[in-house]
Amino acid sequence: MNRTDMPPTGAVGQESAPMEARGLRKHFLSGDGSELRILRGVELRVAPGEVVAIIGASGVGKSTLLHLLGALDRPTEGEVLVGGKSLSEMDPESLAAIRNQHIGMVFQFHHLLRDFSALENVALPRRIGGASEDDAKDRARTLLDSVGLSHRLDHLPTQLSGGEQQRVAVARALANDPLVLLADEPSGNLDAAASDELHELLFRLREEEGTSMVLVTHNLELARQSDRILELRDGVLHDYGLSQAGSGTGPEGEEIGG
Ligand SMILES: Nc1ncnc2c1ncn2[C@@H]1O[C@H](COP(=O)(O)OP(=O)(O)OP(=O)(O)O)[C@@H](O)[C@H]1O
Ligand SMILES: [Mg+2]
Repeated sequence: MNRTDMPPTGAVGQESAPMEARGLRKHFLSGDGSELRILRGVELRVAPGEVVAIIGASGVGKSTLLHLLGALDRPTEGEVLVGGKSLSEMDPESLAAIRNQHIGMVFQFHHLLRDFSALENVALPRRIGGASEDDAKDRARTLLDSVGLSHRLDHLPTQLSGGEQQRVAVARALANDPLVLLADEPSGNLDAAASDELHELLFRLREEEGTSMVLVTHNLELARQSDRILELRDGVLHDYGLSQAGSGTGPEGEEIGG
């Protein structure tokens, strides 16, 4: 919980925006050798404790953007700042430290380690960050308790339901008390009840831990609970407006942006 005892490589300014993107461009080479300009100048500033939803049609570049924000890939141009610190010039070791200490990621499929229990999966990021086994497991127990899984600590991922696996993944993403949680369709693989539960959990964690979030989603319910909806279109982010997303009268699991 204490952010002042971070190793120096991962130290960032706590007063700045938790996450910022400036002029982000990402180009890929397509099969025939032509250039695909997927992101064409993305600007984003996430305030402390803010939840931003990103919507957009399939293939528009949402996952690409999240990978850049999560320092899993580098932009063609532009920069990402975490806690005010630019990732551009960082060596791989410092990037790994930033990812470990300040960024939590949750994907559509949980990516839990299958030979490790729920407790071990959640403890791992803190162990990697240099904490003792006792400290890492204490924090993991607290987190698993807060996602309602204190009775499943020793279960392997295959011994958990899909919704439970995603809750373990959320707990793991919070292991080091990150500045920002990035989620790529976290409930995309869940039924309506399990996805409602996951969404409630995310917003409760925002209240309790003050974690900022960037959520990529097709789920209207989730998008309209957020503070801001942005649509990725033509390679840039547009304000979508919460009013356009309706007032909660739509059918459950209704999809937007896809
Ligand atoms: N490594 C790569 N090389 C070439 N093209 C890529 C690469 N990665 C992604 N793309 C292309 O970039 C585009 C954006 O992909 P991305 O996965 O970001 O879309 P998305 O918005 O997340 O879509 P979905 O909603 O279906 O998940 C796609 O057309 C994809 O084919
Ligand atoms: Mg995607």
